[in-house]
Amino acid sequence: MRRKVIAGNWKMNKTPLETVEFLKKFIDLIKDVEHDIILCVPYIDLLVALELTKNTNIKIGAQNVHFKDSGAYTGEVSPKMLQDIGVEYVIIGHSERRAYYNETDESVNMKIKAALEHELKPIVCVGETLEQREVGVTKEFVTTQIRNALIGIDAKQMKKIIIAYEPIWAIGTGKTASKEDANEVCHWIREELHTLYGDVADEIIIQYGGSVKASNAKELFEMSDIDGGLVGGSSLEPEEFTRIIKF
Ligand code: PGA
Repeated sequence: MRRKVIAGNWKMNKTPLETVEFLKKFIDLIKDVEHDIILCVPYIDLLVALELTKNTNIKIGAQNVHFKDSGAYTGEVSPKMLQDIGVEYVIIGHSERRAYYNETDESVNMKIKAALEHELKPIVCVGETLEQREVGVTKEFVTTQIRNALIGIDAKQMKKIIIAYEPIWAIGTGKTASKEDANEVCHWIREELHTLYGDVADEIIIQYGGSVKASNAKELFEMSDIDGGLVGGSSLEPEEFTRIIKF
């Protein structure tokens, strides 16, 4: 049985002070939970989040990373920096970064390799647009994203990677994929991982993301190929996020 992994993606929300307020409530609410819990917070909140979650069951992640260790890249944060402060996870290739910051399958692949070199565990996002779903190319598109993201990654490295399937039309829209549709794509992703890595595919965590809320978490997370979720808007409020985690 694969474990369930539930990650919050705060996006560009919460100041350090608001992070403290959130964690004061949240740490207590989820202290007995056995699922893996990850909070991916803005860079500026990382230090305080790491400090407050020491000796708790919460792991901390960043939402992006550069592929170089250092250099003239104004405004960027390197994997070496994240590793140095004790960050454990990093979201790579979120659809908002692909759409607004020109991230490509190629840069996603470079970032995954750089993250792994620094012992960060990547949460790699893939997912189709509404047009792609409507014309029936979801499988081809998503499996191509997976193949391209994982070029040069071996099976041992693959075990450290989480895949998040996030249909773009479901992100922040209140529209959730049906549990059957979400599971079907997660299954296609696992089949692709089988082709690439054999039985290792059965160990890989594949999350669903896109308008996950307390009211739909259970039906989604109980599907055969969905091993938890990447939760945006509903991770901002400690009580709602706890209800999702305790689905
Ligand atoms: P949402 O975002 O839960 O607000 O739809 C999910 C995500 O983008 O990771």
